[in-house]
Amino acid sequence: MAAYADDIRLLQTRGGYQSFDLIRLKPDDPERAESRKKFLSEHIHSDDGVRYCIEGQGQFYIRTGDYVHALEVTVGDLISVPAGALHWFNGGEKPSFTAIRLFTTPDGWAATFTGAGLPGNIPLYEGER
Ligand SMILES: [Fe+2]
Repeated sequence: MAAYADDIRLLQTRGGYQSFDLIRLKPDDPERAESRKKFLSEHIHSDDGVRYCIEGQGQFYIRTGDYVHALEVTVGDLISVPAGALHWFNGGEKPSFTAIRLFTTPDGWAATFTGAGLPGNIPLYEGER
């Protein structure tokens, strides 16, 4: 985190983000199947949030109306997920993904799951090609 302190400070200043954390998914994590299931569940956050990928890759899906936008994220990519945006994440069966997440409130990371099924016509991300 220290290596990204300047980047974090800049994002906090520009976006008003008050909290941040580090999320890391590793291919040898014994709980990766359970984590994948959780991240593959559609949810929202009450805060605007930023994810800054610093290691690996993965794919975010954002649903807007009848459309699902699939965004592959790799090292150096930064995405903003607006408050209330329906979304989910897939790092593949053997995920390798590390990101700094920033939120506008200390509890912004908390997710509210919609319980909606995922569209069956969208291919799942299988990780690094
Ligand atoms: Fe999320």
